[in-house]
Amino acid sequence: MSNRKVLAISASLSATSKTARMVEAVLEELRGQKIDTEHVVLRHLDPGALLSADAQAPSVASFLEKVAAAHGLIIATPIYKASFSGLLKAGLDVLPQFALAGKVVLPLGTGGSLAHVLALDYGLRPVFQSMGARHVVQSHYVCESDFPKTGEMISLLDPLWAALRHACENFVYSLTDDERAAMLGHPRGVVPRVNSQ
Ligand SMILES: Cc1cc2nc3c(=O)[nH]c(=O)nc-3n(C[C@H](O)[C@H](O)[C@H](O)COP(=O)(O)O)c2cc1C
Repeated sequence: MSNRKVLAISASLSATSKTARMVEAVLEELRGQKIDTEHVVLRHLDPGALLSADAQAPSVASFLEKVAAAHGLIIATPIYKASFSGLLKAGLDVLPQFALAGKVVLPLGTGGSLAHVLALDYGLRPVFQSMGARHVVQSHYVCESDFPKTGEMISLLDPLWAALRHACENFVYSLTDDERAAMLGHPRGVVPRVNSQ
């Protein structure tokens, strides 16, 4: 499975986003396993094009292509007002209805306290399911107080980040480049029959 592609999408409004730092640490780990990675920071997309769902605008068109090409998606959000960020909702709303069909999704979140840890599973997981995701693996949530200072590296080898490493391993285990998976989760998908002879 050498040609797996993972796209990370992070959805913070902050230029010094902890969410994006956590994503970079996970992508570093995946690159070590020879997995192709890319990171789309939603706040870098043309905001007018995103909010008017202009799929022809270059930054949005490129985002749509990257999502379509990925085998797996890491979708990461800060918790704002007890839920995932509005920027993430705008990014998901611009995608086709079954944009996640055939794909594995790892939801990641950061928040000010543990009070809203379930926002990922109650708020975000149903959205991924409605978009056809083949498998949404165990989500992972980190409190902002657990982050090292700005500028300090996060390493998944550090025992403090062992739970994130474990979530990452579950995600990698679920990735496949089997083309028959590409339509799993799509209501009109046709899965080619496996020839048992
Ligand atoms: C507008 C706003 C609303 C927030 N609402 C919540 C919240 O409801 N629950 C919570 O746990 N943290 C909340 N936070 C704290 C952020 O989730 C936390 O600081 C997070 O680490 C920010 O991630 P970032 O650095 O990637 O933006 C809020 C922060 C902001 C700016």
